[in-house]
Amino acid sequence: MAEIRLTEHPILQFKRGRKISFTFNGKKLDGHEGETVAAALHAAGVTTYRRSPQLHRPRGFFCAIGKCSSCLMTVDGVPNVRICITPLREGMKVCSPKGKGQLPEDDPATIWTWPGQYVDKILETEVAIIGAGPAGLSAAVETTRMGAETVVFDENDGIGGQLIKQTHMFFGSKEQHAKVRGIDIVPLLLEQIDDSRAQIMLEATAIGLYADKTLGVVRRQELFGLRAQKIIMASGASENMLAFEHCDLPGVYGAGAVQTLMNVYGLIPGRRVLMVGAGNIGLIVSYQLLQAGVEVVEVIEAAPYIGGYHVHAAKIRRAGVPIHTCHTITKASGQEKVEGAVVAQVDSHWQPIPNTQRELAVDVICLAVGLSPTAELLFQAGCQSCYIPELGGHVAVHDENLETTVKGIYVAGDASGIEEASTAMLEGRLAGLCAAESLGKKAISERKEEILSQLKELRTGPFGEKARKGKEMMRQEACRYGL
Ligand code: FES
Repeated sequence: MAEIRLTEHPILQFKRGRKISFTFNGKKLDGHEGETVAAALHAAGVTTYRRSPQLHRPRGFFCAIGKCSSCLMTVDGVPNVRICITPLREGMKVCSPKGKGQLPEDDPATIWTWPGQYVDKILETEVAIIGAGPAGLSAAVETTRMGAETVVFDENDGIGGQLIKQTHMFFGSKEQHAKVRGIDIVPLLLEQIDDSRAQIMLEATAIGLYADKTLGVVRRQELFGLRAQKIIMASGASENMLAFEHCDLPGVYGAGAVQTLMNVYGLIPGRRVLMVGAGNIGLIVSYQLLQAGVEVVEVIEAAPYIGGYHVHAAKIRRAGVPIHTCHTITKASGQEKVEGAVVAQVDSHWQPIPNTQRELAVDVICLAVGLSPTAELLFQAGCQSCYIPELGGHVAVHDENLETTVKGIYVAGDASGIEEASTAMLEGRLAGLCAAESLGKKAISERKEEILSQLKELRTGPFGEKARKGKEMMRQEACRYGL
């Protein structure tokens, strides 16, 4: 049986930083430098962090990428800190909040300096890129190549977004990094960014975006403004939840969270996993779990067919994992954390069929049931939105150059509509090219044509159908707004 901390892996090597100590509700624990607080707690066997304010239900993490509110804790006296993206530091005091979390009464200064000490400065740049994932880094490749001063920022303490946990090899053509693992694409992108024109700010969260293209940014207890001539929003996506009985128990994790634990921090999420969703993410993460020595009890899928590539499905079937279509989860069991799951067959209206329930002994329920674009800041800036299910829900209306209804604000990657990482990188490049071109930088039209034709190619065929349809609907919306 695998230990929680992986020491061997067929693809990855985990180099852990020095051991450091911290406390959780007064109890001394150890973690490693380079881990987040949530990763260190998980490694120490702590999966329940606090109780919900109203119903006192147990709470742990869910997304592990800073996109939900499941992991809010009090850290060194500061309430409501997302510990899944907070780097662990020596001597940290991590406490479960009481109720909704209180500011310290005896230290009013903290009230006025949280979330950050306001610094009376507004930085200026030609292009600001929000998000250092595949789309954001690709955008920076183009903006800096065309000579635009660029600031890229990301709320994590490392670059690469979701690429840093993708151990599978990419499909497509050479230009789309075919046969290269996601984890190996990050240095390739970084190499292409002209660092004389780029500044990458990590642990920097954009908390406000205004129509004059000023951003409010919090970085390590400092709050400041950033005014850009062009903004590219490449903020990615958040994991979808699924409603079932006790779906809020610790141990119900998003697929991205499971990948983060395993592939970034080298920690197994649990011993026996039920995977919900047989799209590409569900299938790939199932295989990665098997590679980490974790038992995948079964994969269930509510649709009557497997949504992901059959090559991925074949790999996990060969490893003995059954895939049941027309199945859903109806309940998670356990008091403080997941101890089991109940699954059932569904009818053609997606309703559970009576007397088909089965109980499974699992300690993790992994949800791979889709993503939603993270585009709230765009709406705050006044960008018009529309609802396109094929693109994952509410998205900012944008034209073929990925410019939104607010001139000079662009959107790329999953934030513009959910697709694969390959399309996110191409969209990032397109947005970067168009943003720099509109600044008067010399554009290379062949490159734009080449990107557009690669995007078209990726959206061709049965697996590109959904995105193709979604982008077609987007074109109609854009016309309505005169774009
Ligand atoms: S924000 Fe930390 S688990 Fe989602």
